Amino acid sequence: MQVISCCFTVCHSRMMNFAGKVVLITGASSGIGAETAVHFARLGADLVLAGRNAGALTKVVDACLEQGKRTPLAVTGNLEEDKHVKSLVKSTIERFKKLDVLVNNAGILEMGNIENTSLEQYDRIFDVNVRSVYNLTMQAVPHLTKTKGTIVNVSSICGVRSFPGVLAYCMSKATIEQFTRCVALELAPNQVRVNAVSPGVIVTPIQKRGGLSDTAYVHFLEEAKATHALGRPGEVSEVAEAITFLASEKSSFITGDSLPIDGGRHAMCPRVYAS
Ligand SMILES: NC(=O)c1ccc[n+]([C@@H]2O[C@H](COP(=O)([O-])OP(=O)(O)OC[C@H]3O[C@@H](n4cnc5c(N)ncnc54)[C@H](OP(=O)(O)O)[C@@H]3O)[C@@H](O)[C@H]2O)c1
Repeated sequence: MQVISCCFTVCHSRMMNFAGKVVLITGASSGIGAETAVHFARLGADLVLAGRNAGALTKVVDACLEQGKRTPLAVTGNLEEDKHVKSLVKSTIERFKKLDVLVNNAGILEMGNIENTSLEQYDRIFDVNVRSVYNLTMQAVPHLTKTKGTIVNVSSICGVRSFPGVLAYCMSKATIEQFTRCVALELAPNQVRVNAVSPGVIVTPIQKRGGLSDTAYVHFLEEAKATHALGRPGEVSEVAEAITFLASEKSSFITGDSLPIDGGRHAMCPRVYAS
């Protein structure tokens, strides 16, 4: 009995623990952000969950409550609006008095190449995927400096490898890769760590929201078996695990990195096999 209890104590002390930590997650109403919220709740964090869809956000709040018994603060709004970004940080500080972790997860995907992506599309993608990340990070930095906190940006395989037909999205995520490295160096003297995850295809609504039909999405997921070395698309929980790791003390000497969560896709190169 004593041995079991001793093992439990050792294992428990090795687990990530966010008790007493305040974590702000954007895009928490769907997909990767929603699952990441539940993961942080399980690890004891106080959460600020941001999204546009109030009903979906409430469901995530309920899922977090089931895990952590700590009531998250849900804030609805459009990250393209500067007023919302400011009020997100303001309400975080009003409610929890500090901020330890910022997860810049919200993002949109739209199809289009250099011949047919309008400037309106380009602006929309950059406003959400880049400008709002810059803006929110800028507002959060004074608070993260006080807590020696961490930032995790959600990038994409599209930020590190090149694909035709999703031009503005790829460009926006490449910007997030460089943003992550530069801000990591800028904030290192404050002991604030900044990292990214770069997922491959993960099963969420994003591709259909970006214009793929139901049939095309089925085909896309089937293709993912060949385009990812591990032979399948990824799950939201696999990204959430990596985000919590990069936000935790377990990664205390890692900054300026982008961790691929892509079943090996970043290491692949097209090859024609001779039969
Ligand atoms: N799934 C993938 O295959 C994949 C691969 C690589 C990278 N990623 C990245 O992972 C992140 C999360 O994507 P996901 O796959 O989880 O997609 P998702 O299920 O579509 O979720 C996107 C989230 O972003 C929020 N959002 C979008 N535009 C917003 C805006 N203007 N203001 C506020 N919130 C906004 C959405 O809020 P509402 O739903 O409330 O509108 C939603 O919570 C994105 O940055 C995406 O680029 C995804």
